[in-house]
Amino acid sequence: MRFRTLDQLDARGKRVLLRADLNVPVKDGRITDLTRIERVCPTIRELSDKGGRVIVCSHFGRPKGKPVPEMSLRPVAEALEKLLGRSVRFAGSLAAARDMSASLADGEVLLLENTRYDPREEKNDPSMARELAALADVYVDDAFSSAHRAHASTEGVARLLPAYAGRLMQAELEALDKVLGHPAHPLAAVIGGAKVSTKLPMLGNLVGRVDVLVLGGAMANTFLAAQGNAVGKSMQEPDTYGAARDLLARARQVGCRVILPQDVVVAAKLAPDVPRQAVEVDAVPADAIILDLGPRSVDGLLGEIRDWRTMVWNGPLGAFEIPPFDAASKALARAVADATQAGHLISVAGGGDTDSLLNRAGVADRFSYVSTAGGAFLEWLEGRTLPGVAALEY
Ligand code: 3PG
Repeated sequence: MRFRTLDQLDARGKRVLLRADLNVPVKDGRITDLTRIERVCPTIRELSDKGGRVIVCSHFGRPKGKPVPEMSLRPVAEALEKLLGRSVRFAGSLAAARDMSASLADGEVLLLENTRYDPREEKNDPSMARELAALADVYVDDAFSSAHRAHASTEGVARLLPAYAGRLMQAELEALDKVLGHPAHPLAAVIGGAKVSTKLPMLGNLVGRVDVLVLGGAMANTFLAAQGNAVGKSMQEPDTYGAARDLLARARQVGCRVILPQDVVVAAKLAPDVPRQAVEVDAVPADAIILDLGPRSVDGLLGEIRDWRTMVWNGPLGAFEIPPFDAASKALARAVADATQAGHLISVAGGGDTDSLLNRAGVADRFSYVSTAGGAFLEWLEGRTLPGVAALEY
């Protein structure tokens, strides 16, 4: 795809509407993870340093079209100010933003209140897109993680102003292109997590594109069971046995090698320090729960990595929140990081728990790219067109 970047934008003196994704996790009124704010800072700094008048907008939570005080972006403005190291003005409404954006000086930064306080945002109402467009001369989208939403601030306004990808959006799109656009082969996908049912569209797309598909996590239990293995009390989805078998048959037809667990770690319950054992997949005790890949499967995977040139990873291989059931995920994470650093592998990870897993393993900065996106990353793996990205194309 072709999109403009900040390299093509002379921002001096221009009012730049910057769509960020400041939808950060909050607990008891405190931001628990600043990553999304940190990742948009380079774009804001660059625009501001070039003399742009930066008007940042974002959604925050799901307030459903009306003001909800806990979902105000005001506290996020303070966090942004600290991380940027420069002052950030705040507009509590679109009406206030109109006056403030007109009086911004070159280099100044203004943050708008939660775009989802307005019921027109999620409806992609053209009247809201026009009001947003009227605030600015150009539009920069740095919110890949919101690009699966066709909303007024992601899609509608992008069609009304000259549109550019911010540095974070650019990095996401370039990383993703290296995986499913123009990958170096062999290309592997490692897909874990809990439910097959939510990942079937993704698996269907990947089977036709990757050379190797590794299945792990509780999701793999359904595949094992569909092949006739007893999985004890493990999480599984019998309704999708048929779909799982179809997927394996299609993989055989198109020459995609599917790697399922050979052995697994089981325990009577999911808790730290419970007695556990590794068993072959055809020998899972009736009262046991599968909680991680077994050592033989892990060794097999580590051997595979040597052959891969590109890999994309979504979803943990075991119940990684409770050690020691994070062992397989961490072992794979470290080996992928090492192969990446040695220059053998392009590694891209994202979606759901994957970034938190890589952070825990301490290797996120040793992958080629770790996406900040959840749902958008998954939809992209499904092969779907993301409206916010499509609107940047020219
Ligand atoms: C995300 O957290 O994945 C994005 O910010 C999108 O949020 P949403 O699922 O509420 O649209």
